[in-house]
Amino acid sequence: MNAMEPSSVSWQRWTAVDDYIAEHLLPADAALESAVADSAAAGLPPISVTANQGKLLQLLARMQGARAILELGTLGGYSTIWLARALPAGGRLITLEAEPRYAELARANIARAGLAERVELRVGAALRTLPQLHAEGAGPFDLIFIDADKENYPGYFEWALRLSRPGTLIVGDNVVRDGAIVDPGGDDPKYGAGVVRGVRRFYELAGAEVEKGAVSATAIQTVGAKGHDGFALVLVEGTD
Ligand code: SAH
Ligand code: DHB
Ligand code: MG
Repeated sequence: MNAMEPSSVSWQRWTAVDDYIAEHLLPADAALESAVADSAAAGLPPISVTANQGKLLQLLARMQGARAILELGTLGGYSTIWLARALPAGGRLITLEAEPRYAELARANIARAGLAERVELRVGAALRTLPQLHAEGAGPFDLIFIDADKENYPGYFEWALRLSRPGTLIVGDNVVRDGAIVDPGGDDPKYGAGVVRGVRRFYELAGAEVEKGAVSATAIQTVGAKGHDGFALVLVEGTD
């Protein structure tokens, strides 16, 4: 499941560096470790963010002073826990997950972390639950983490903008995919055309918003235990 072959010297090095960073900077956290262990035991794919990436999300949420966070793609709730821990008292996180079995495990992991009160998990395809949220008047959110199916990133980006305010930070995971995103044909054998096309369209939409001056954005390549990938950071412009 890792982007690099397990035998790769580079991948071993990247993983060792992730471990080194965690050893020095990330205090042991039983709830996060149990979430990973129980997700693996239940056979969930090992595709959550790494610990240092989870901490990056948490720091970004704190820097935003986020009181309302939206996450697309819960899996076992690992990134959810990192993000929800950034919330002040009274803060809320809504997370969207299509797969009921993952959602059930995520609920248990979130509850064990003591975050059940702050986190609302909605089960269903995000392109169905996002319009519902919007119709209910949810948001604007201070931080939106897009991490569900990559094919639908273009639609997710558009919904994220609708659920934003000036100053909202939209973070997109998996926007590099081993570098496959630079292939115009998008026929990467590992990720498939739909993923590459979806992520490339996400860049096009974000780029069009940059052109309009509606957002300011960048993307950063990452390497580590989960391979070579990247995060996009999109800050919504304007004044409140
Ligand atoms: N954010 C998680 C990892 C998410 S993996 C973490 O870092 O810990 C991507 C998740 O998106 C998977 O759980 C998958 O079931 C979910 N997903 C896939 N298609 C979806 C859809 N259409 N709507 C909502 N979630 C979806
Ligand atoms: C994969 C990785 C992710 O971070 C994700 O959100 C979905 C899939 C993967 O490597 O397959
Ligand atoms: Mg991801």
